[in-house]
Amino acid sequence: MLITGTADKGKCIGKTESGQVVFVEGVAPGDVVDVLILRKRKGFLEGRLQNIKSLSKERVEPVCKHFGVCGGCKWQHIPYEAQLRHKNDTVKNALQRIGKVDVEAFEPILGAAETEYYRNKLEFTFSCKRWLEADELNEEEISNRQDVLGFHRPRVFDKIIDIDHCHLQPAPSNEIRLFVKEKAKELGLSFFDIRENQGYMRNLLIRTSSLGETMVVFSFHEDEKDTREQLLDAVWEKFELTSLCYTINTKKNDSWYGLDVLVYKGEGVIHEQLGDVKYKISPKSFFQTNTRQAKELYDIVVEFAGMTGHENVYDLYTGTGSIACYVAKSCKQVVGIEEVEAAIVDAGKNAAMNGIENTVFYAGDVKDILTDQFAEKHGKPDILITDPPRAGMHKDVIEMLLKLASPKVVYVSCNPATQARDLNLLSEKYEVKKVRPVDMFPHTHHIESVALLQLKD
Ligand SMILES: C[S@@+](CC[C@H](N)C(=O)[O-])C[C@H]1O[C@@H](n2cnc3c(N)ncnc32)[C@H](O)[C@@H]1O
Repeated sequence: MLITGTADKGKCIGKTESGQVVFVEGVAPGDVVDVLILRKRKGFLEGRLQNIKSLSKERVEPVCKHFGVCGGCKWQHIPYEAQLRHKNDTVKNALQRIGKVDVEAFEPILGAAETEYYRNKLEFTFSCKRWLEADELNEEEISNRQDVLGFHRPRVFDKIIDIDHCHLQPAPSNEIRLFVKEKAKELGLSFFDIRENQGYMRNLLIRTSSLGETMVVFSFHEDEKDTREQLLDAVWEKFELTSLCYTINTKKNDSWYGLDVLVYKGEGVIHEQLGDVKYKISPKSFFQTNTRQAKELYDIVVEFAGMTGHENVYDLYTGTGSIACYVAKSCKQVVGIEEVEAAIVDAGKNAAMNGIENTVFYAGDVKDILTDQFAEKHGKPDILITDPPRAGMHKDVIEMLLKLASPKVVYVSCNPATQARDLNLLSEKYEVKKVRPVDMFPHTHHIESVALLQLKD
């Protein structure tokens, strides 16, 4: 079968002899392959690569030695221009097929200047079980009982790929991860076994910033002060960190977002800057993970919003107020809403740190906070910016937006399908003036897209 193009979620697409569409992973457009059909779905098939007969001339050499095993950068073997073409088409197709909306101006995708070392945050997992690669399984003495630190093998919850070098985050991310792994072993600390729910070392989060700051957060399974401090002191001594934090996670799952994070050394935050706006980022705060492209994204928001300095702006799903603070100087006031209370506290701090006095932030679900009374209190928006999570906006929020009838809506989305669905619902009162996709995550299928909607006459 000839692979003809890229498809959603990092897969590629081909056709059987009878013309049925097949989705398959680990191939590139132009490859000729044998595929084992695993599942029949409505209108398409899902297959697994069995054998590559000939490689596409378009393929490029993946830069990472973990490519193909680690699920992080599935498209490293596809030229970046081809990745961008696919992402551009994904947004366009979603608007046509799901949104069924006419777009007055579809602006071409904005690619990233840096396709490696672009992330400011990575989280690694400790495990006492290493994922073995296919060729290792034939080795007689091999055992997966090894202490490792890295990423999950896709769809495997209890084995970790031991990452030697990751091309996603700049220095000192790799250096810290490798040092921590060796130091923990030297100190005799046990690595976590998720099946047995035992072991000391669980997770390692590293945040870096374009200002040269670094934050390290550990998740330990047990609360043992001496052991913990031996490791933390060694890390603090070895690297110039801005903040060193930890949490104790005794739960059965790795998520530590509901737990208290304690500061061991430093202020407990790092700083980032977009344009002339500075941001304080706490361990658990949401912050756009590609700093350089975040500025490009926000500049498109500013351009689409076309503010004159007099507008009342709403910023829905404001996170730590990143967009709100970025646009504050261009308008009369910004009203931000976000459900995570800690993020709203950070949003207030971010505004204060930048001397911004025309923002106000509310914590809560947008569908509960954004009411008629809220709009009466703050005045109806002249521009409404919305940046929801992947699920898009709740239908009650859409209804409220139709009621508020803000002259302009700027919709930032990380999921073209839900953005298209929401634009369709909003098309009752709005026309789509402009759309521009932005690539925040090279070598992955993820794509961000900004749409400008204007109230119909
Ligand atoms: C894609 S992020 C955007 C954050 C911010 N605009 C930025 O650029 O950094 C979406 C945000 O929506 C928040 N969120 C998710 N569901 C929500 C809801 N129902 N109501 C309010 N906020 C919500 C998340 O906590 C997250 O901070």
